[in-house]
Amino acid sequence: AQINWFPGHMQKARREVAERIKQVDIVFEVVDARVPESSRNPMLLSMLNQKPRIAILNKADLADPNRTKQWLAAYEQADQPALAIDAQHANRLQQLAQMATTQLADKIARKKARGIKTPHIRAMCIGIPNVGKSTILNRLVHKNIAVTGNRPGVTKNQQWLKAGDNLDLLDTPGILWPKFEDQEVGMRLALSGAIADTVFNADDVALWGLTYFMQEYPARLRKAYGLNDADMTLAPHDLMAYLTSKLGFGEEYDRMATRLINDVRKGELGRYTLEVPTAEAEHADTE
Ligand code: G4P
Repeated sequence: AQINWFPGHMQKARREVAERIKQVDIVFEVVDARVPESSRNPMLLSMLNQKPRIAILNKADLADPNRTKQWLAAYEQADQPALAIDAQHANRLQQLAQMATTQLADKIARKKARGIKTPHIRAMCIGIPNVGKSTILNRLVHKNIAVTGNRPGVTKNQQWLKAGDNLDLLDTPGILWPKFEDQEVGMRLALSGAIADTVFNADDVALWGLTYFMQEYPARLRKAYGLNDADMTLAPHDLMAYLTSKLGFGEEYDRMATRLINDVRKGELGRYTLEVPTAEAEHADTE
């Protein structure tokens, strides 16, 4: 579901999520592993107010495995628990309850000391739209709950769902807005499909994407479109024009733009991650 965010929307979503954060012991912050930083809400950390958090890098099946390792290492360096998963196949998802238990060990011990035999952990998923919050929720509770009211500003009665012997999950994920302020962030989110196609210019996104893949994943580009060394020395907009005719779109650049964006999103150009945790970006080609 794509959402048009207005200032009123954002305030309401923020109030709602802040209210629900108070009800949980730990927050599962879901991000897209292909854009781990750009797909974070800019205000979540301040809203958490020191509440424990596990960062879930979802859609790891689509992300560049080397870069996912780099991101996990960066999180570890920062003492922030993080987990890369593929929620569609429930890959590694079962580790989440264990990680939450470890992180809340002190709190659980205190509850046990007070005579509670099996202290329950209360958690909720939070993230921007489309990162896979509902998928994770459904997998964790082992059923297909209809996540109604899956929009900000739509309140309903909260319910706790059992996601294991001692893990209870809020039945509705917390939805927050993406970062809008930065042009590069917008391009990353648009190219990976995290934000609505209506809010960006496809030609700009495609050219940004082509430029990025020429720099970071040149071998993928060569393979996908049958390009040679000489083609790869073209300026990005010249290569775009060349691809347009090569793929049979004549001079209809907008059709090539759409094609390129869809190819990237569908994984036709392989697994990719559009940002790295360190300043010095490395060539990511593994082929
Ligand atoms: P949300 O609640 O955070 O908004 O996200 P949701 O679970 O609805 O997931 C958004 C889309 O991402 C869904 O595709 C879902 O199947 C897909 N998805 C979720 N987790 C993963 C993952 O780990 N790997 C991959 N590859 N895909 C994942 P959809 O409903 O088919 O939407 P779309 O494909 O039409 O965009």
